Amino acid sequence: MKLIVGNLKMNLLSTAERDRYFESFKKELKDSKVGNVQIVLCVPSIHLESFTKKIKSKSVEIGSQNIFWEEKGSYTGEISAPMVASLGAQYSIIGHSERRRYFGETSAQANMKIKVALKNKLTPIYCVGETKEEKENGDAAQVIIQQISEAFAGISSTQASKIVIAYEPVWSVGSDIVPSSDEILEIKILLKKIFVELYGLPVAEKISVLYGGSVKSELINQVCIEPGMDGVLVGRESLVPRDFFKIVKIINKN
Ligand code: 13P
Repeated sequence: MKLIVGNLKMNLLSTAERDRYFESFKKELKDSKVGNVQIVLCVPSIHLESFTKKIKSKSVEIGSQNIFWEEKGSYTGEISAPMVASLGAQYSIIGHSERRRYFGETSAQANMKIKVALKNKLTPIYCVGETKEEKENGDAAQVIIQQISEAFAGISSTQASKIVIAYEPVWSVGSDIVPSSDEILEIKILLKKIFVELYGLPVAEKISVLYGGSVKSELINQVCIEPGMDGVLVGRESLVPRDFFKIVKIINKN
């Protein structure tokens, strides 16, 4: 089953805008066949409760875009895995490149977040990917190896098999520049090799690997189908349900 994750980022600025999104999303969901895909919407945390209450469908789960690594306490401004889980969410994005870039988040912090997510039965969607400069210097593989080995430290094989990886090259996020399907395939093979080494083949096969970065319906063949990805992580195109469902429909057919 393919996974299609929408990352709404810091959008839907008012309750009115959010409610319009619900209406349009529900209409698209009703009009579309989505039997073969799992949709996940990672929404601003302030909207988590309304999304889990208003969107009730087997095909759609809700997730947060971040969590803190502690479960509770004096951490002003943070939200915790138990809070997210108690609102009915099932997923959390962890280590997104925008968190790394604007808040200096590290893979070691992602490791703690992955552990607390799993403890609270949230599926972590862990983001990895190289910057433009790292790619140009030929360091992409090394960067990804490090991002995985730090984030998976102390994670058992049972835990690892529940984690979703999103390969999001930083240079592709928000840029409308996408890698070729061969480039994506190369990274997918690299990730599988790392997981085979860490956990063996049966576990490596269970870890889903998504592609993210400037995903659009016209590009689904290139970024998902051809490289044999397990799904996509969609930013801007998830903000208009009609565009998002174009992606859903194409992946559902394949
Ligand atoms: P865009 O699809 O807007 O490039 O964003 C990708 C992303 O960061 C998803 O997490």
